Amino acid sequence: MRNFILGVIVTLIVLVVGGLAFALLGFMPTNADATPPHLERRIAARALDASMEHHAPRVNNPVQVTDENLIDGMKVYTMNCALCHGALDRKPSVIAKAFYPSVPQLILRPLDDPEWHINYAIRTGVRYTGMPAWSKALSEQDIWKVTAFLSRVEKLPPAVRDYWKKSFGVEPPSEGSHKGEGSHHDEDEEDKD
Ligand code: HEC
Repeated sequence: MRNFILGVIVTLIVLVVGGLAFALLGFMPTNADATPPHLERRIAARALDASMEHHAPRVNNPVQVTDENLIDGMKVYTMNCALCHGALDRKPSVIAKAFYPSVPQLILRPLDDPEWHINYAIRTGVRYTGMPAWSKALSEQDIWKVTAFLSRVEKLPPAVRDYWKKSFGVEPPSEGSHKGEGSHHDEDEEDKD
């Protein structure tokens, strides 16, 4: 029994030291111009969802869903998020695939998560991905407004749709127009375009 425990401890030490040496001697790749392997993508996506499920408070959006607030949310999005997540002209972001992992396109593939979930992601960001914690840059009001907008990209009221069309020259997406394409967390996301 004593030898067994000693064996376990030695194995653990070898793993930790080995891992540290691997990283500190420069064997870990840091380049972002690569596509994450399938398994890494799957595990990371699940871990992210599980962590948000675990940490995010279940709160309702305190901002009223008015045309004005949704248009404000659209403006916040255009100014701060479109560069990475895709603009309202419905073209994919040119730098989305320059990130490791690539950036989900929130206009081309709208989110179907609840608002507390989306809000938490925006507010606190996502470590080691390039997604900033917007609580350090935007007001809480603006974060909730962009949350309201993002959770209704395909269900916007007529006046907001008109505003979108006038400002960006394209018809906004409508519900069902993405059937069969899967969600932004699809495993094969990066393989199809
Ligand atoms: C510099 C690029 C960049 C900018 C700017 C940016 N994001 Fe992100 N965002 C990312 C990346 C990268 C991820 C993906 C993290 C991952 O792989 O899980 C992400 C993830 C998200 C998610 C989670 C999506 C999911 O799959 O659940 C939301 C919501 C989001 N961003 C909203 C926003 C909003 C709103 C803004 C503007 C206020 C914004 N982002 C600005 C890069 C960016």
